[in-house]
Formats: sequence, structure tokens, C-alpha cells
Amino acid sequence: MRILVAGTGFTGSRILTALRRSGHEVIGLNRSGGGDGVMAGDVLAPESLDGLKTLPPFDLLISTLSGSGQRDPACYRSIYVDGPRRILDRMAWRNAPQVWMLGSTGVYGVGDGSWVNETTLTEPVHRTGQVQVDAEQALQAACDQTCVLRLSGLYGPGRTRLIRQALRKRPFLKPDLWANQIHADDVAALVQFLVDREAPPPPLLLVSDEQPTQRKEIFTWIRKEMNLPDGRYDEDHPGRAGADRGNKRVDSSKMRALGFRLKYPGFREGLGSLLADLNL
Ligand SMILES: NC(=O)c1ccc[n+]([C@@H]2O[C@H](COP(=O)([O-])OP(=O)(O)OC[C@H]3O[C@@H](n4cnc5c(N)ncnc54)[C@H](OP(=O)(O)O)[C@@H]3O)[C@@H](O)[C@H]2O)c1
Repeated sequence: MRILVAGTGFTGSRILTALRRSGHEVIGLNRSGGGDGVMAGDVLAPESLDGLKTLPPFDLLISTLSGSGQRDPACYRSIYVDGPRRILDRMAWRNAPQVWMLGSTGVYGVGDGSWVNETTLTEPVHRTGQVQVDAEQALQAACDQTCVLRLSGLYGPGRTRLIRQALRKRPFLKPDLWANQIHADDVAALVQFLVDREAPPPPLLLVSDEQPTQRKEIFTWIRKEMNLPDGRYDEDHPGRAGADRGNKRVDSSKMRALGFRLKYPGFREGLGSLLADLNL
């Protein structure tokens, strides 16, 4: 396949590499360009994307654009909601356009720790979750063949938030909160799996490991692995489980029912692989 990967950051770069290894012809896009087969273009400055019009036709656009570095809410929103369409409109296509995007499980409003799956209603609590819902809808309005991969918390080398929280001296907040995580290498492997299989992908998949786990269990395990005494917990902090933010368990069984096998099915495998490499 000839594929454009928009966004070559933490996850996009892994997707680009995995797809090339699998024999696909892959062009990347980010704001600065450079590197091997990565072009420059800023979705907030649409004219900078005009170079896309000169490229040979594609089979698939995969958007991994992220607005996480944006302070301006309007720009943040525009990256997700307008970005994929601005790219799509400038691409030539071999067949009907096909666009996949990395979304977020932040679209759910569940706060009581119950399970969410592909049939759960989206009721975002936060502004960023609403942007994700609007981005999915904008994509579906712009293109007939879409696939949204709603990711839980991304981690991997260099993104070790839970490990760093567990090693802090102050008490852990929100110990009851469910953590739902996915290693970035597993996201890349999943995208490769979906590209390489014959059948079209489902329109929506939740992407998370097999074991939602309460943060206290993860923190305790990390400290034990690091030969540290168990930490202290602040059970009464106003932000604890179920307060005003999402507290849910992400059911990724549909993803696994397709035949995809995770390299890091739980936090022990995933975080364990990172602990040894940490320069603490
Ligand atoms: N982090 C999480 O826990 C999490 C959870 C769920 C879902 N997600 C979603 O997963 C996706 C990938 O996340 P990530 O953490 O891998 O992203 P990331 O490392 O921040 O990379 C984002 C990429 O988007 C590009 N980009 C940003 N603004 C752009 C613009 N105006 N024009 C063109 N390119 C632009 C960046 O370009 P430069 O390289 O030029 O900066 C970068 O290559 C995002 O959609 C994110 O919302 C993330």
C-alpha cells in the first residue's frame, strides 16, 4: 500500500517504521519535515500542505496528529477537527479515500469505574474529550471509509508517567482510579496488523491492554520492583476515584477478537520493560 502517516511523533514514528518494515511505501508528515521520506506541512497553515498535491496517489491516510503541545484552544481544536480533512483534500487517491485516525478513550464520561466498549455512549467530561468526539465526526463526514482507534493512556520509552509518580516522595493521589494503558509499540503493531490483513478494519476499535488496573496496585508493584518501601496514599484527596473525571475500565476484547496479540498485555510486561532502562 501507499500510505501517508500524518504526525511522526511518539506513536506516528513507530507506525511509519512498522509499516515500512512490512513492505509498504510510507510518507510521513510533520511540521518540520526532514528525515527519510518525511515532508513538512502545518495543518494550521493549510497552504503549507499544497506540496501534497504533487505526490503520486495514495491508498490510505493515517492521522496521528496531536494538539497536546498547543496552548491556544482554537488551534488545539483545529489540529484534530480540521487537520485530517485539510490533508485529505490535497491528496490524490488510487481508489476511494480511506482515512484512519488515532483517537482517545477520553470521549467517555464514565466516572464509576465501570467498563466501556465500542457501544458505550460518548459523553466527554473534559473539553479535550469533546474535541475528540468532534474530530471523529468531522472525519466521518469527510470520508466514507474511516477507522477510529480510540487509545487509552499511551506509554513507552520516554513516556513513563506512572513510574515517575510511583517514585515521588509525596503521597499518591487517586489510588483507586483505574489505569488503562497501551504501549506505543503495540499501537504500531496493531496498525500494521490492520493494514496487512485482507479485510477492511472495523470503523471503531478501543485500543488498550488486557488489564485495567487500579493505580495503587501499579504503584505498589513498581516500588517493590525498585526495592523501595510501599508508598503512602491520599485516599481523601478531592480528585480521588470517580470525582469529576473519567474513571473507567476499557474493554479491548474486540481488538483481540480480530486475532491481534499484544506484546505488552499488562502493566507488568510493559512497565517492567521500561524500569531497567530508566535513568533514575
Ligand atoms: N498521549 C496519550 O496518552 C494519548 C492517549 C490517547 C490518545 N492519544 C492520541 O494519539 C495520537 C498520537 O499521540 P502522540 O502522543 O504519539 O503524539 P505526539 O508525540 O505529540 O506527535 C504528534 C505529531 O503531530 C504533529 N503535529 C502537531 N501539530 C501539527 C500541525 N499543526 N501540523 C502538522 N503536524 C502537527 C507533530 O509534529 P512535529 O513532529 O512537527 O511536532 C507530531 O509529529 C494523538 O492523536 C493523541 O491525541 C494520545
